[in-house]
Parts: sequence; structure tokens; C-alpha cells
Amino acid sequence: MHAVSDTGKPFLTLLAGNAHSPPPIWLMRQAGRYLPEYRKLRAQAANFLDFCFTPDLAIEATLQPIRRFGLDAAILFSDILTVPWALGQKVEFLEGEGPKLEPLRTAGDLDRLQQDGVVQRLAPVYRTVAGVAAALPAKTALIGFAGAPWTVAAYMVEGHGSRDFLDVKSFGMAQPALFDRLLDIVTQATIVHLCAQIEAGAEAVQLFDSWAGVLAEAEFRRWVIAPTKIIASALHERHPSIPLIGFPRGAGGLLPAYAREAGVGAIGLDTQVPLGWAMDILPRKLPVQGNLDPVALVVGGQALKEAVKVILGHAEGRPLIFNLGHGVPQTTPPDHVAELVDLVRGS
Ligand code: CP3
Repeated sequence: MHAVSDTGKPFLTLLAGNAHSPPPIWLMRQAGRYLPEYRKLRAQAANFLDFCFTPDLAIEATLQPIRRFGLDAAILFSDILTVPWALGQKVEFLEGEGPKLEPLRTAGDLDRLQQDGVVQRLAPVYRTVAGVAAALPAKTALIGFAGAPWTVAAYMVEGHGSRDFLDVKSFGMAQPALFDRLLDIVTQATIVHLCAQIEAGAEAVQLFDSWAGVLAEAEFRRWVIAPTKIIASALHERHPSIPLIGFPRGAGGLLPAYAREAGVGAIGLDTQVPLGWAMDILPRKLPVQGNLDPVALVVGGQALKEAVKVILGHAEGRPLIFNLGHGVPQTTPPDHVAELVDLVRGS
């Protein structure tokens, strides 16, 4: 909740704690391979990281869903794994396989990370932010983002995605001091990365904690809440008017603790969170974002209509940003996104 002046942007009005009808809407992973114009653009870059680091291409990818659907917010086109790359870790995106990193395991591996120069190495990302800010329609807000330290550290240690994150959890439990050091390195890099995005024109920022849901309470408090709180305090100090949205995917019963203690100004809810329960246990003025099942978007038609109605029923009188509970699936027909925007706006 922030006392920002009226910017005329529904998304920012909402984040300031004021309900807005109809609710502003944007979608996680609104840019990407489900859009034919994205696939065409993507073919111009040799690999995904080059694509992210070429401002002309990344600006265009950010703007594509805005042009097509008139969403209330654009999200910077980039990736959470640009931060490990900027810290000097080897990061690759193999076609059809997802990300691959050279896994970090030892104190020596951590010593080799280059903490200085993160912002310089990520300069193309900030050029993208500035380019998008200059091109957006007056009513559209610009969201910057980063992965939360736990989720980013999970990729850094595992070297790829995982179902159970056994390697990184074992690392953290067996060598807590070393893992705290890694979390601290990522936390500091995340702070400078988010500040640079804000200074380039991002009007709100989101922290994606995609793997928050694999942790027990003790680790959730140490590895999810504590680093998020450090980031939230640093941002609040340096950029007090910029709202921070936390997305602790899968937090479940730990959501109230996250809301109370992590210091975020708004919370993204994943698909499994019962909205009625969330509205009961979260502070009335806390903006919430979510949480349509992405599958309802893929299916469209009556299933989509009904799922949207349930969410809108909970939005009345409460600050809600309409979004999915996770990213847009690759198999989504683009027409269904247009349909969703119409349903939410009641047109
Ligand atoms: O439109 C947007 O949301 C903005 C861009 C964005 C991307 N990734 C582009 C992307 C954002 C916000 C992300 C965040 C991200 N990246 C997360 C957190 C959100 C989540 O999904 O839980 C995570 C875990 C990643 C890491 C990552 N990047 C994975 C696991 C993959 C491979 C899976 C896949 O969908 O291919 C990526 C690649 C990626 N990031 C693509 C896009 C559009 C696809 C790559 C391509 O076009 O070749």
C-alpha cells in the first residue's frame, strides 16, 4: 500500500490500495511462444539470452501483448536467470529443455561469483526498460521483476529445474552458513538489479518466488521471508513510492506469515489459494493479484467464463489485480486472452 498520486493508470491506483472496477489485468508470461508474432521475433536471435540482451528485440517482445490485448500493465521482457549470468555463472537455455546452469556446490564456486559489475553487465536490460517506458500508452504501467533469492539460488545450485529441489535443500540444511552466503550474494544483486530497473522507468516490481512451495516452515522463513524482507526494506528506503509485489508460489498455509513479515506491498496468489480464504486472512487493504487457473485460459469458452466469475465475485470492494495463478501456457490460443480481457472488463 503506497500513497502515490493519481497517475491515471488503473494498475498503479490498485497498488496504492484503492479498489478499481473493473480490476486491472495483466498476465504472468503474457509475452512468449503462444504468440505467433513472438515466435517470429524470437527466430531473429541465436539464443534466448541474446534475445533478452538485445533491447530492440526485448522492447518489441514486451510491447506485443500490449498492442494485441490492451492489458493494464506491461512486464519487462527478460528472465530471472539473467542475475546468475551477471554474477558470472554459466547459464544456457537449450531449445526445448529449459535452463541449464553450471551448478554451484562449494565455497570455491561461491568465491568465483563476481558481485561487482552486475548492473554494468545487465545494462541492456535497463535500456529495454527505458525503451518500453517511452513507448507505452499513457494508461499502461510498466512492471520490472527479478526472481526471489530462494528461487534463483535453487537454479544456481541444482543447475536446472527440479521437482523436489533435493540438491539445493540438502545444501542449505547441511551447510547453512555457506547457503546463507549464497542467498546474501543473490539478495544484494537483486536489490541493485531492481533499483536499476526502477531508475530506468519501471513503476512497480515483482519478485517471482516460483519454488517457495517446496519448503517446510523453518526454511520458508529463512530462505523465502528473510531475504524478501531485506529486498523490500532496501527498495522502500531507496524508492519509497515504488510498489513491490511478492509472488510466493505454493506458500499455502504460510501465506499469512509471508504477508505479515516479508514487507511486500502486494501479494500474487497462485492457482491453488482459495480466494475467499485469502481475502479473510489478508489485511483488507492489501492488494492481491491472481489467480485464474491457466488451464481455464487454454480451454476458453464456458470454463473460462465460470472461473472468471468466481474471481470477480471476490474482487468486490477489495483491491484485486486480475492475473493468472502462474504463467500463460504455451498452448494458449491468443484469442482466449482477448476473450479473458473482455470478460474481466465486462464488455
Ligand atoms: O511475459 C513475461 O512474463 C515476461 C518475461 C518472463 C520470462 N520469464 C520470459 C521467458 C518472465 C517474467 C520470466 C520469469 C521466469 N523465468 C520465472 C518465474 C516465473 C515462473 O514461470 O515461475 C522462472 C522460473 C524462469 C526461468 C525460466 N525461463 C524457465 C524455467 C524457462 C524455460 C521454460 C520455458 O517456458 O521455456 C525460461 C525461458 C523463458 N523465459 C521463455 C520466456 C518467454 C521461453 C524461452 C524461449 O522463448 O525460447
